Amino acid sequence: MEISRIGVVGAGQMGNGIAHVMALAGYEVLLNDISEEALSHALALIGKNLDRQVSREKISEAEKDAALERIGTTMTLTDLGKTDLVIEAATERETIKQAIFEDLVPHLQPHTILTSNTSSISITRLASRTDRPERFMGFHFMNPVPVMKLVELIRGIQTDEATYQACLKVVERLGKTAASAEDFPAFIVNRILVPMINEAVYTLYEGVGSVRSIDQSLKLGANHPMGPLELADFIGLDTCLAIMNVLHDGLADTKYRPCPLLVKYVEAGWLGRKTERGFYDYR
Ligand code: CAA
Repeated sequence: MEISRIGVVGAGQMGNGIAHVMALAGYEVLLNDISEEALSHALALIGKNLDRQVSREKISEAEKDAALERIGTTMTLTDLGKTDLVIEAATERETIKQAIFEDLVPHLQPHTILTSNTSSISITRLASRTDRPERFMGFHFMNPVPVMKLVELIRGIQTDEATYQACLKVVERLGKTAASAEDFPAFIVNRILVPMINEAVYTLYEGVGSVRSIDQSLKLGANHPMGPLELADFIGLDTCLAIMNVLHDGLADTKYRPCPLLVKYVEAGWLGRKTERGFYDYR
């Protein structure tokens, strides 16, 4: 099945990056959000990030213009009914995602593949609430989407091979590499990455090191591009906590217990870069 039109639900950090790379790869993109402000902010950010790629001579001015022309926006979710592939990239809350699928599914064409960019929620459970569990799977991008080379493709228990192959073709057309993951809590990347971040927060909580010394240790001592606390601010502390809770609940092992300091920061509304305060102060 040929995929040419792609719907993206949610114009936030991940959604705008997904729209960016899809349009650059030649797909027609329809970006949906409930907020008009979020849609115009996303378009401005996509333009800025494409400009950055032009200035580094990664793409030409003409490619940038063509990509921008391929992106349409809508506040009406049901407009996505005419697309061949939908990627849901809304807030990482299961009830929100399920409500979106409930509203969208009756308007989808029979062949349309439905996917979620969820970083940790069960694909099998999300799929089971739709009319097409065999054409449902996880399509998980990494942040920043235009830069990171990996996409995790997660099959639910009912996902069929044709759906997997169609999604794999899309990943390849993006010039990215797919990692195939089974549907277990937080899949591969976040199963490993987020407990490391949680351990860094424990290291801070127990006074083993300061924010700067922890980050510097992993940057200079393990060649990580960002320290774990800087990375937590970048991902969002609420997202990190949500992923730890999914691991803790789903695997029932105390080694995934979220650090109380992480919980406290989230309760304070210190969510990282997006609120201008996390382990660092961005104000
Ligand atoms: N769009 C387009 N290009 C971008 C970009 C964006 N949003 N952000 C950065 N870039 C480009 C820059 O233009 C630059 O390009 P060149 O190599 O051509 O010069 C390159 O990326 C590097 O950027 P910078 O020079 O500005 O900054 P940097 O060297 O400090 O790199 C970084 C920034 C790429 C974010 C790097 O710090 C990094 O790789 N950090 C780790 C990111 C990471 O681990 N992401 C995964 C998070 S986990 C996740 O996403 C899963 C989940 O579900 C939570």
